[in-house]
Amino acid sequence: MRLNRVVRPTVALVAVVVGACVRPSAAPVVSPSPAATAPVASAPAAGVAARQAAVVPNPNAPKVLVIATGGTIAGVQDAPGTLGSYRAGTLTAEQITASVPELARYARIETEQFSNVASTLVTPEMWVKLAKRINVVLQRGDLAGVVVTHGTDRLEETAFFLYLTVRSNKPVVVVGAQRPATGISPDGPINLLGAVRTAASPKAVHKGVMVVMDDRILSARESRKLYQRTGGFDTGDMGMLGVVASQGPEFFFAPVRRFGERSEFDLERVDTLPKVELTMSYPGGTGQTFTTNPKGVVVATTGMTAAENATYRALRQTGVVVVTSFTSGENVNGGGGGGDGPPPPARTDTTARRDSVARPVVAPVPPNVVAQHLTATKARILLMVALTKTNDPREVQRIFNEY
Ligand code: SIN
Repeated sequence: MRLNRVVRPTVALVAVVVGACVRPSAAPVVSPSPAATAPVASAPAAGVAARQAAVVPNPNAPKVLVIATGGTIAGVQDAPGTLGSYRAGTLTAEQITASVPELARYARIETEQFSNVASTLVTPEMWVKLAKRINVVLQRGDLAGVVVTHGTDRLEETAFFLYLTVRSNKPVVVVGAQRPATGISPDGPINLLGAVRTAASPKAVHKGVMVVMDDRILSARESRKLYQRTGGFDTGDMGMLGVVASQGPEFFFAPVRRFGERSEFDLERVDTLPKVELTMSYPGGTGQTFTTNPKGVVVATTGMTAAENATYRALRQTGVVVVTSFTSGENVNGGGGGGDGPPPPARTDTTARRDSVARPVVAPVPPNVVAQHLTATKARILLMVALTKTNDPREVQRIFNEY
């Protein structure tokens, strides 16, 4: 990780940004690569320089730290200015922020490079490191908020992990782009501007971790990538928190479940997360068994077959916590989404005395945990985090009811 304090874009830096955009390569689409170096002068450089000349930086603006992790927002094409293939995770944090000189109107920007990869390479260990880092920097009294730039493929997962584990009321905004920085009409710069304006805004305090894309402010709990075009991030039935309007972020709603300062999840002594597998139920399914020794399993289902129920009941009896999540992620009913409900009462000695035939005492089956309005991928993340505290399914259900 590298911290660059108060980066103000300069014309020279802008030239580097655009220079980095052109690089001969036969690399596959969307693969990580180190920052490019080939120099080039072009019309976009002049465009950014002209915009920069028009910007009067606000010396009293709030400080915002932009932590870059990679993705298409840092993506560079083999043939810039086209719709062609590109390598995600190429431009640096400094280069990305320097390409949007307008940021200086709303925030004093600092940058930090956490990683520079396509987001399919982001691991749960990286989530933990990133959350720890954000928890540390947000303790700074002079920092208003944090923006995380990220690939969109796994953006909703990282954002939700941060939502659960960043214990601060300050805004954290995760942002990506669906078009590479060098493409025709890239969405990264305007998304980054919206993200920084939101992170700098006092209105964004106590709203948890947010995703800002296409002028929409979404709660990280609900945000989902629906498709690979601009406008592809949505929240399903639950709606957005607000909009980045021309005058700045405007909020209409706030999340009320547990997150941020009210989160009980302390990563202080956590470096790796418990293993949780994810699987689906389907007509004729018999349920999946695992050789990976998971501590938890999430099953996406609208209702399980009898054979699936039997498989997951047996798994629960071995101490694995099983969570069912409705396939669409939209269900809220406590008992819905599959699983066979609460365990029957354990047999007592009274029963044994009444019967003349002695029966073996059957151990109660640990209950199935039901996710409320969470996609299976997000239910997996909440289960991983919950298992850092408890493996009692009743306590895990309490956590799923609260977050
Ligand atoms: C990635 O997720 O790193 C590539 C795709 C994207 O950012 O849109």
